Amino acid sequence: MEEVKVLIDEEKLHKRVDEIAAQIESEYKGKEIILICILKGSVFFTVDLAKRINGDVKIEFIRVSSYNEGTESSGEIKMKLDLKDSIKGKDVIVVEDIIDTGRTLSYLIKYLKMKKPNSLKLCALLDKPERRIKKDVKVDYTGFQIPDEFVVGYGLDVDEKYRNLPYVGYIEQ
Ligand code: IMP
Ligand code: MG
Repeated sequence: MEEVKVLIDEEKLHKRVDEIAAQIESEYKGKEIILICILKGSVFFTVDLAKRINGDVKIEFIRVSSYNEGTESSGEIKMKLDLKDSIKGKDVIVVEDIIDTGRTLSYLIKYLKMKKPNSLKLCALLDKPERRIKKDVKVDYTGFQIPDEFVVGYGLDVDEKYRNLPYVGYIEQ
């Protein structure tokens, strides 16, 4: 196993998740929130976020694939698992682990808008602004902006490995 260097430790992650949850809670007072968790990477973040929002929260799952193998993007997005319930008229927040080129979220926004939610916002734990190709994607809630490094942990993987690390780190080459 390669060595993983800590970039964002558990304490920092939890503190930031608390802050985002508090912000969402205050902006959605009295409304039911549908969190759409993008499998598999954002499972850890979605669960932690949901637990910290005091109010009506429902969780839905979508799975798309944009990466074929390792760290190289194929550029093509495929829907692997679709929503089970209607989001028509609902207040939806898409929860993503990381926004890199923006292709995944750009595709998902277009797709979800066709389903006519009442509102649609984006929440991403990590953002690599230097890598953005799709400039039209606006993230409403961002955890941390990070440099252009391939990161793992807290849901993020390389070939399915490292998702269970409690922190976000990068692999020392
Ligand atoms: P985008 O479509 O290029 O914005 O990429 C988004 C997806 O690529 C994320 O949901 C991740 O699954 C994956 N990804 C992008 N950067 C990283 C990284 O540094 N580590 C692990 N996965 C990444
Ligand atoms: Mg992902």
